[in-house]
Amino acid sequence: MQIITTKKGLQATVAACKQINKTIGLVPTMGALHDGHASLVKRCVAENDVCFVSVFVNPTQFNNKEDLAKYPRNLEKDAQFLCDLGADFVFAPTPEEMYSEEEMNTTFSFDFAGLDQVMEGKMRPGHFNGVVQVVSRLFYLVQPNRAYFGEKDFQQLAIIHHMVERSSLKDTFDNLRIIGCPIVREASGLALSSRNERLSEDEKKTAINISRILKESLTWPRTSVKEVEQRVVDEINQVPGLEVEYYSIVDGTTLQETDTFDNAVGCVTVYCGPVRLIDNIKY
Ligand code: PAF
Repeated sequence: MQIITTKKGLQATVAACKQINKTIGLVPTMGALHDGHASLVKRCVAENDVCFVSVFVNPTQFNNKEDLAKYPRNLEKDAQFLCDLGADFVFAPTPEEMYSEEEMNTTFSFDFAGLDQVMEGKMRPGHFNGVVQVVSRLFYLVQPNRAYFGEKDFQQLAIIHHMVERSSLKDTFDNLRIIGCPIVREASGLALSSRNERLSEDEKKTAINISRILKESLTWPRTSVKEVEQRVVDEINQVPGLEVEYYSIVDGTTLQETDTFDNAVGCVTVYCGPVRLIDNIKY
């Protein structure tokens, strides 16, 4: 496995792969890798001739400087993890390599068709502009045939589908398939996340209640979407140590409010102590 740190080096490697007609898979990550990422990388390795993984803590998608500073970084450990999974190339640039100063300091503009006006987009203004900025650049540099993303970040995945399939950028990404991969959970049900590293043992036990209540909500009487939403919020908030930021049952494609359970996904953000966790469930 080779680690590449420059755009030039990456483009030369991609050109060499394309010249001999290799299919290319890409897994974009911000490092702090866990078994959720492993499931994406394994699938990428199995389905493509060459597997690229990017490890880049993208500053433009953080609207909180403290969050960016605290984000766990350990390239050596991540590289070993990826090597063991059979990845071929890791792209790990610095922010200065990835962006000009101007790009770093201006919000990337993009037509989200409303997908950024709800849930994470509403709570973290500009977050998805940074995500689209970095992911579109990675797609441009790597020109993958397939790119893999986790369903845990459900809104992010919907926005990337929109970018590649319906937005004004779509012609730039000919022959690219976006592949969403199921959430990987601990045996307890807790969705794997790099942020779990910041939970104490007690907080981890508390956090298990999030997935438990989401799962139970599938069995509740479907009186109305609003009532199920409210009951999830109430039950999570009753657990000492948990505080719901939002729970929205939305249409799985448009992410807009829905009044039916067809193609509906419930997306939650919960503070467990100081740690902000997200999860979702399909109805
Ligand atoms: O999901 C993530 O880890 C990031 O948002 C991504 C897609 C790698 C872009 O920085």
